[in-house]
Amino acid sequence: MKVLIVVGARPNFIKVTPILKEFKKYNSVKSILVHTGQHYDFEMSQIFFKDLEIPKPNYNLGVGVGSHARQTAKIMEKLEPVILREKPDLVIVVGDVNSTLAGALTAAKLNIPVVHVEAGLRSYDKTMPEEINRLLTDHISKSLFCPTETAVKNLKKEGIKKGLYRVGDIMYDTLLNSKLKAQSSKLLRRLRLKPKQYLLLTIHRASNTDNLENLRKIITTIGESGEKVVFPIHPRTKKQLKKLKLKIKNWKLRIIAPLGYLDMLVLENNAKKILTDSGGVQKEAYWLKVPCLTLRKETEWIETVKDGWNILVGQNKVKILKAIKNFQPKGPQHRHFGNGRTAKMITNILLKNYGK
Ligand code: UD1
Ligand code: UDP
Repeated sequence: MKVLIVVGARPNFIKVTPILKEFKKYNSVKSILVHTGQHYDFEMSQIFFKDLEIPKPNYNLGVGVGSHARQTAKIMEKLEPVILREKPDLVIVVGDVNSTLAGALTAAKLNIPVVHVEAGLRSYDKTMPEEINRLLTDHISKSLFCPTETAVKNLKKEGIKKGLYRVGDIMYDTLLNSKLKAQSSKLLRRLRLKPKQYLLLTIHRASNTDNLENLRKIITTIGESGEKVVFPIHPRTKKQLKKLKLKIKNWKLRIIAPLGYLDMLVLENNAKKILTDSGGVQKEAYWLKVPCLTLRKETEWIETVKDGWNILVGQNKVKILKAIKNFQPKGPQHRHFGNGRTAKMITNILLKNYGK
C-alpha cells in the first residue's frame, strides 16, 4: 500500500506523527510525506520534526504566504505532478487547514481515494475559513476518520454515510506518546515559572486577529486581569498586535516565541488555566485536566464544554474576567476521544480497505 500524506501547518505535523510511526511497523506500507510549506518558520515547522522525530518530508512544495485562493491554488498546482509521479493508492489529509483542502481536491480530481483524518468537525460558522476546508474535504473523501461521536453524527446529517469510522482523536495519541519525553523540558526553569501560578494564552484565529478590535479587547482584558500570563505568540498575531501599539508595560503579560510541542505540553500541563482560540489546545487542556477558557463563541469540541472543563467566553470582558477568577471544572471526564490508539485503528482499517 503506497500512501501519500499531505501536511502544511503546525497542527498537521502533530497529527501525522503517530500515523507515520504506526506505518513504519509494516513493510507493506510505503509512505511519502509532502510538506506544502504553508508554515515555514523554524518555530512553526522544523521544530516539530525535531521534537516528534518526524522523518524529513520527501517533498517540500515551499508555497508560503498567500491569500486563501492563492495559497490553495499554489499547493494544488505543485502537488499534482507529485501525485502523478508517485502514483499512491491513497492520499491522507489531516485537520482543516488550506493544505488539507488543497491536498484533498488535487487527489480527488485525479481519482485517488482521499482519506480525511479528523473528519466531521463543524462549528456551523461558514465565515470561518476552516469550516469551508472541513466541509469540502469531507464531501470528497472516501474514508473519513472521526474523532468523536458528534463528528460521526455531523457527517450523517449531511448525508455522508459511507466510509465513516469513529477512531478517537489522533492528537490524544501524540500527547500520550510524548508525555514522558516532555519531562526533560527545561522551559519552566528557563522562564522562571512556578507550576499553577500562571495563565497560558494562545490566539491565532482569523476572527481574533484580522479583527483588530477583538484582539484589542482580549489582550487588554487579560492584561488588566493582573494575572501572570505567558503568551507564545503565533506569527500572524504578532504582526497584528504590533498594529495596536498597546502599552503593555504594567501588565504581567509575557510574550514569547511559539514553542515546540514538548515545551508547549509542559507549559499547558503546569498552567493554572488556559485561554485559547486553538482547537488543539482546547483538547490538550481537557486531557491534561487544566481549566480552559475558549476565546470564541462556539467550539467544535463541544464534549469539553459539556463535561464542564471548557467555557466559551468569546471576546467578552466580563465573561473573561469572571472565568479567570471563578471558573472551576466540576464534572467527571468521559471517554469522548478514544483511548490513544487511534493511529493503530486507522492503519488497520486502511490495510483492510486499500492493502495489497
Ligand atoms: C493556519 C490555519 C488554521 C490553523 C493554524 C495553525 C488555514 C486557513 N488556517 O492559520 O486553521 O489553526 O494554521 O497554526 O489554513 N506566518 C509566518 N510564518 C509561518 C507561518 C505563518 O510568519 O511559518 C504568518 C504569515 O504572515 C501568514 C500568516 O502567519 O500570512 C498566516 O498564516 P497561514 O498559514 O495563512 O494561516 P494561520 O493563521 O497560520
Ligand atoms: N502548539 C505548540 N506551540 C505553540 C502553540 C501551539 O506546539 O506555541 C501546539 C499545541 O500544543 C497543539 C497544536 O500546536 O498541539 C495546536 O495548533 P494550533 O493552535 O496552531 O492550531 P489549531 O489546533 O487551532 O488548528
